[in-house]
Amino acid sequence: MALVIRRSKIHADGVYTTTAIKRRSIVAEYTGPRLSYSEADAIYEHSPRTYLFGLSDGERVVDGDGIAAFINHCCDPNCESDEIKGRVIIRAIRKIAPGEELAYDYCLYDGDPDDPALCHCGAKNCRGSMYSEKEIRERRTLAKKRKPRA
Ligand SMILES: C[S@@+](CC[C@H](N)C(=O)[O-])C[C@H]1O[C@@H](n2cnc3c(N)ncnc32)[C@H](O)[C@@H]1O
Ligand SMILES: [Zn+2]
Repeated sequence: MALVIRRSKIHADGVYTTTAIKRRSIVAEYTGPRLSYSEADAIYEHSPRTYLFGLSDGERVVDGDGIAAFINHCCDPNCESDEIKGRVIIRAIRKIAPGEELAYDYCLYDGDPDDPALCHCGAKNCRGSMYSEKEIRERRTLAKKRKPRA
């Protein structure tokens, strides 16, 4: 398997495979130092783009330093992320042909309340945001509550 970084139609740069990938293969590990949320906030507070991956302990993020950090989000992805004993891997969820861009569903669940994290994946079923379905519903409910009555 050979992965390369190239310009992407989804966003800036993305990761492509130059060889065929079998379904269920691990395509990359999301490597990088582990930071607490407050450490990450201090470093990236004013940064428009980050390479952070939230771990399931809800306390730490991986500050991506490898190729996996360049994989874009898609609402109809060909990969998924998984956490195994604290390590984050990206796995193919279907057969992937040479030349295809790799993408997984970020399912974002936190972030700036005023940032809709708009999605430009172009999939037929694009939900318009990189947030998870659950997070989108919760944000909608919160926005309605916040709206001042006329
Ligand atoms: C980990 S980086 C991915 C690599 C990025 N394309 C680059 O060139 O640095 C994650 C950032 O890419 C952008 N991104 C990834 N997928 C996207 C999508 N489907 N729609 C819009 N922006 C996306 C967002 O700004 C996100 O915060
Ligand atoms: Zn989308």
